[in-house]
Amino acid sequence: MDFNAEYRKRTAEIESVITSYLPNEEGYQKIIMEAMNYSFLAGGKRLRPMLMSETYRLFGGKSKVIEPFMAAIEMIHTYSLVHDDLPAMDNDEYRRGKETTWKVYGEAMGILAGDALLNYAFETAARAFDMEPQNAGLGKALQILAKKAGIFGMVGGQVVDVQSENDTAMTKEKLDFIYRLKTSALIESSMLIGAVLAGATRNEQNIIEEVAEKVGLAFQIQDDILDVTSTMEVLGKPIGSDEKNHKVTYVTYEGLEKSKADVKQLSEEAISRMESLVVKNEFLTELLRYLISREK
Ligand code: IPE
Ligand code: IPE
Ligand code: MG
Ligand code: MG
Ligand code: MG
Repeated sequence: MDFNAEYRKRTAEIESVITSYLPNEEGYQKIIMEAMNYSFLAGGKRLRPMLMSETYRLFGGKSKVIEPFMAAIEMIHTYSLVHDDLPAMDNDEYRRGKETTWKVYGEAMGILAGDALLNYAFETAARAFDMEPQNAGLGKALQILAKKAGIFGMVGGQVVDVQSENDTAMTKEKLDFIYRLKTSALIESSMLIGAVLAGATRNEQNIIEEVAEKVGLAFQIQDDILDVTSTMEVLGKPIGSDEKNHKVTYVTYEGLEKSKADVKQLSEEAISRMESLVVKNEFLTELLRYLISREK
């Protein structure tokens, strides 16, 4: 398999699926659709919908019922970035190679665009019920989407992340907690929804959730590494954001070399856990391997 060619092809397919769910820009409230679409269409790797569709494929899923959920998870992820960049949060001015939503539309519309994307994600996911009313996994998938984005997931992690700026008493346990919630949770949501909608067993769902947790931790540690070692041109977002905000990150806590080693180790653990399953998806395995050395 030519991984790079396959990666480009699948990313393009995902792009066309998820953008088809964006709202039309019309009505007195038109500005909010413009702001939602601006942040969503600015780009991004589309990793979460890719992990979702590849996990769905892993367990033999074949229908289009996964598509509204792919759009929904990217909307929730995009909202998390729009709010993460706000002046009251990380106060960043570039994202996905463009000015951040609040920089272009102002702070109030930045807040509302995040709110709007979150709500529209659920409106979008709920469309799956019209597609396959008989699908037994839909209720569970919706529950996962809600919970992993909320106070026991991404929002919970962002709360402790913000509270822990300048934290001189940070522990490894607390740092892991932040990463598991702020980043792993949406990756768990992606992979678990793929598994549930494809009809994976309870045991297979548990394995996939463990895989996703490790993928998420590795992904956030790599994000911290790139915040120190990359460039704005490559990342499409400012480097040095963590230092500016006095964040305790894996890199400040464990050092650069240990952080790099942990990205590799967590990813390898995730791959071997996934390989313990009877089912296989060669592209998904290669994708997890590729993420170890991702440069953006
Ligand atoms: C950035 O996520 C936020 C983190 C959880 C580290 P991505 O690196 O997936 O951002 P995009 O979607 O490609 O812009
Ligand atoms: C944010 O982590 C994770 C989210 C839930 C948005 P960061 O603050 O490190 O993400 P970037 O580096 O701004 O993308
Ligand atoms: Mg942040
Ligand atoms: Mg940030
Ligand atoms: Mg970061």
